[in-house]
Amino acid sequence: MGSGAWTVEKRLSFRSESFSKELGIVNETGCLSIIVLGASGDLAKKKTFPALFNLYRQGFLQSNEVHIFGYARSKISDDDLRNRLKGYLVGKEASSEQSEEVSKFLQLIKYVSGSYDSASGFELLDKGISEHEFSKKSAEGTSRRLFYLALPPSVYPSVCKMIKSYCMNKSDLGGWTRIVVEKPFGRDLESAEKLSTEIGELFDEPQIYRIDHYLGKELVQNLLVLRFANRLFLPLWNHDNIANVQIVFREDFGTDGRGGYFDEYGIIRDIIQNHLLQVLCLVAMEKPVSLKPEHIRDEKVKVLQSVLPIKDEEIILGQYEGYTDDPTVPDHSNTPTFATMVLRIHNERWEGVPFILKAGKALNSRKAEIRVQFKDVPGDIFKCKKQGRNEFVIRLQPSEAMYMKLTVKQPGLEMLTVQSELDLSYGQRYQDVIIPEAYERLILDTIKGDQQHFVRRDELKAAWEIFTPLLHRIDNGEVKPISYKPGSRGPAEADELLEKAGYVQTHGYIWIPPTL
Ligand code: BG6
Repeated sequence: MGSGAWTVEKRLSFRSESFSKELGIVNETGCLSIIVLGASGDLAKKKTFPALFNLYRQGFLQSNEVHIFGYARSKISDDDLRNRLKGYLVGKEASSEQSEEVSKFLQLIKYVSGSYDSASGFELLDKGISEHEFSKKSAEGTSRRLFYLALPPSVYPSVCKMIKSYCMNKSDLGGWTRIVVEKPFGRDLESAEKLSTEIGELFDEPQIYRIDHYLGKELVQNLLVLRFANRLFLPLWNHDNIANVQIVFREDFGTDGRGGYFDEYGIIRDIIQNHLLQVLCLVAMEKPVSLKPEHIRDEKVKVLQSVLPIKDEEIILGQYEGYTDDPTVPDHSNTPTFATMVLRIHNERWEGVPFILKAGKALNSRKAEIRVQFKDVPGDIFKCKKQGRNEFVIRLQPSEAMYMKLTVKQPGLEMLTVQSELDLSYGQRYQDVIIPEAYERLILDTIKGDQQHFVRRDELKAAWEIFTPLLHRIDNGEVKPISYKPGSRGPAEADELLEKAGYVQTHGYIWIPPTL
């Protein structure tokens, strides 16, 4: 059968079966309760519930096993929550079949109202979960309970205490309790460690799933396969051949109503310390002993621990004009909405190779990509330096793709060189495949108990160690962002830094994603 004929369901289950076998993960069945805390918040509505719906739709959550609980402070009914969620699950022009699916899914959701630090709400929640387990004839303590904290980190410790005191399942009877937490996990090394210690006193590391949704993106997950299942990259992936690596995140909108949240954190805590750094780990790490989550995460930690302190002259910060017009942002905010910086990994493979991390809001385009630039060819008989260098680009979004920029002979009578590319554009190559949302995969992984794509405590600590000194200096106003125009490339100084770090731009070359 050609790959085009594969349905999404088939592809997903193929992937899970093959990896599960390798990892020794058993597909469990039986009663499953998913509890979304912070059920009426933005994250829950926009990401968590739609991801649960998609898993349900694809048959990964069976209605005879699963029950979903929304928990929050607002005093609303089950139907109020269902009505609020409906619009996020399916577009306005839903077919009757889709609407029916949505209704069936919504019937699986119950709402419990309570505060995040009082026993009564969690006792009520436990009662609801137990009733569901009882109705599914699950023996006490043997079922699965997944708590998704779509909440600000300030309430994590009290919520975890409540779960531990009132809602735990008994692992010695075969059941489990797992906790999913979202970023921002702390503001700096000290606060993150404090949070980790508080939660660590209540739950063991295998029960804690720290989400970084970039680890659920298709092309981020592909990095491991690309690097370690292809002989081609083996001799090339090091400082002998690679001149520099860029990991770039750009958004063409500003803080968009999230000014209050964003100003507390800024672009480094929001994007670079987590999303881009996780990608860097996968680009730079050594081959793990196996695909076991601990083996992979061991290698990622080594990369983080090898990062040298970031030099002042290798950091450019920016803030877009008009950022402080947002009424929720203080007038004299020093928070960067843009940053470019060079990270240097002090090890045998990467000595001398700048890893340039760049992230910005309110820029001229929206994309996330990894750009690996190779060194010039020694003894260039074609005198084609002006054509630019080889680059391997992995476009995470939009229009997932990977392409290798090559110099080739320009077709025609003359012996001229030109830049072209070997292009694997997913939209074209995998036309029948709908790429799952990051949150879908990560929730499924949590249900299966696969922590490969989640951040371990020591990884988190090492990540904060890299950025905390800089973050403190920004917080104290010792380093100031440069102003830039919304809709621009960001401060011109960032392009100069890129050049200083050795990136050679190919002028006049633009990769155009193929149209179908
Ligand atoms: C979130 C950040 O983690 O990632 C947001 O808090 C950002 O500021 C978002 O917009 C980007 O995610 P994605 O998947 O759209 O690249």
